[in-house]
Amino acid sequence: MRIVVVGPGALGCFLAGKLSNRTEVWLLDHDPLRAVRIVEQGGIHCEEQDGRWKAKIPVTARAEDIGIADAVVICTKAYHTREALLQAQPAIGKHTLVLSLQNGMGNSEFILDMVGAERTALGVTHHGVIKTAEGRIQHAGEGMTCIGSLTGKASPQLKTLKKIFSSAGIKTTISENILGILWSKLVINVGINALTALTHLKNGQLLDFEGTQEVMAMALQEAVCVAKRKKIKLPEKDYLKAVQKVCRQTDINVSSMLQDILAGRRTEIDHINGVIVEEGIKCRVATPANTVLYSLVKTWEQSAGQRVVRQEAR
Ligand code: PAF
Repeated sequence: MRIVVVGPGALGCFLAGKLSNRTEVWLLDHDPLRAVRIVEQGGIHCEEQDGRWKAKIPVTARAEDIGIADAVVICTKAYHTREALLQAQPAIGKHTLVLSLQNGMGNSEFILDMVGAERTALGVTHHGVIKTAEGRIQHAGEGMTCIGSLTGKASPQLKTLKKIFSSAGIKTTISENILGILWSKLVINVGINALTALTHLKNGQLLDFEGTQEVMAMALQEAVCVAKRKKIKLPEKDYLKAVQKVCRQTDINVSSMLQDILAGRRTEIDHINGVIVEEGIKCRVATPANTVLYSLVKTWEQSAGQRVVRQEAR
């Protein structure tokens, strides 16, 4: 199977590196110079908790170089989905499966438009991965990966992809309720990402403070309420417990949103807490905690260059 992973962020590098042990993998980057630099440094370098690995893989900014892929896996930021798909288009043929493994909601619409429901797959992964430099990552926590088709039925390609993921060491299951699984991940991100971004704490440290625990519980309760009102079948019964478990499993992880904040990048807040606020308005569920988290992260994004960095001596 020829797989194209789009986006050399933390997750993209991790997947491309791991999958390359089992099948032909290409990493597609929008930045041609960075693509060359990653190849020149010998590909992907990953630090695990108990060792390290290296994967020499082809990295390109030209999807034309790849040929038609069997599967394209989108790992870019949620707000880059459209550009990522357009860039990958030359590698997308009549039978190519397109899988989004991105955070947040709202990624499937562009994929659906381009390839139709039969070949649109969505998924979530709970692996904690930190990007330390270009093509260099730290694998901070194991987690389950779940994929599924928008139609609910698993195509032979999706089943093959699942097998390859699992044999490459990325334990993967297929779900017929992928929307429920996506919402479940969304709820988990609601409980962790903005809180870590605003406090600069690691995932595990959110459980050490009363304040973060209180806001976490409120934001989660609102998100679950919105999902229920939308008749989403959430797989977990108790999301506070579920989030606490993810915090413990990825305790040393710097969440993706905190990584964005530290790097001065735009965050995925619109696709996480922003979705809860927006959907809450549509289905008449009050979402005060999510509104505050959303507004503060937005303020951070908009106030670059205007914030106090350190206090002047008087
Ligand atoms: O966005 C993230 O960082 C991850 O989805 C998660 C699960 C919160 C782990 O850090």
